[in-house]
Amino acid sequence: MLTVQDLHAYYGKSHVLHGVSFAVAPGEIVALLGRNGSGRSTTVKAIMGLVEGAGSVRWKGRELRGRKAFEIAQAGIGYVPENRDIFPTLTVQQNLLLGCKRKPGRWSFDDMYRLFPRLQERNHTEAGVLSGGEQQMLTLCRTLMGDPELIMVDEPTEGLAPKIVERVADYLRELKQRGLAVLLVEQKLTIALEVADRCLVMGHGQIVFDGTPAALRADAAIRKEWLEV
Ligand SMILES: Nc1ncnc2c1ncn2[C@@H]1O[C@H](COP(=O)(O)OP(=O)(O)O)[C@@H](O)[C@H]1O
Ligand SMILES: [Mg+2]
Repeated sequence: MLTVQDLHAYYGKSHVLHGVSFAVAPGEIVALLGRNGSGRSTTVKAIMGLVEGAGSVRWKGRELRGRKAFEIAQAGIGYVPENRDIFPTLTVQQNLLLGCKRKPGRWSFDDMYRLFPRLQERNHTEAGVLSGGEQQMLTLCRTLMGDPELIMVDEPTEGLAPKIVERVADYLRELKQRGLAVLLVEQKLTIALEVADRCLVMGHGQIVFDGTPAALRADAAIRKEWLEV
């Protein structure tokens, strides 16, 4: 469904991605792992057309490179960036409304409130006063309201308490049950091994491992060199 081939990315003169290639199949959860600075966020930004680059990003057979981020979102790719991307002076409900497509998608407001009861309690609260974790949930929900077929989520567990990290694992499974494909950017190996169908590991702007969670669990050398701190 998504095929990334020989992707390069640049911030000015700094060459950050060096030929990244991988694919995501429909309904698959793929974890994109690596240490800080390995190029994971740049990879999802490059897919969304948000950084300068070269290479090919094909989505259902069509080339996305050269398109604008909003066109890529409209084509069915949702992006939840690592900084919580909400409208702080609007309420939770208004934020969700802004995510909606004109025609109804597979997700309803009730789905969002069932996934995250906390958002329902805070429905009429200004989003800017929510906790970091709640803003993260809201960003995710707003993206879901746009009814993506693939959702790319950048470090959803960053800064969350362990109990809430378990909730993240639960909702990722629910997305998969509903037929979404997920590209999960993570640093935490445990959640990736728990929910992913396949794991990618990045180092220095390249993919250094592509395999099943079981294969990654068994590969102590890869984990030691590219993941453990
Ligand atoms: N806006 C930016 N300008 C210049 N360099 C950047 C920028 N964002 C990231 N980088 C650099 O690109 C490399 C990859 O970063 P990033 O994709 O954010 O890694 P990760 O998400 O895996 O932590 C790092 O060396 C980082 O310093
Ligand atoms: Mg990052």
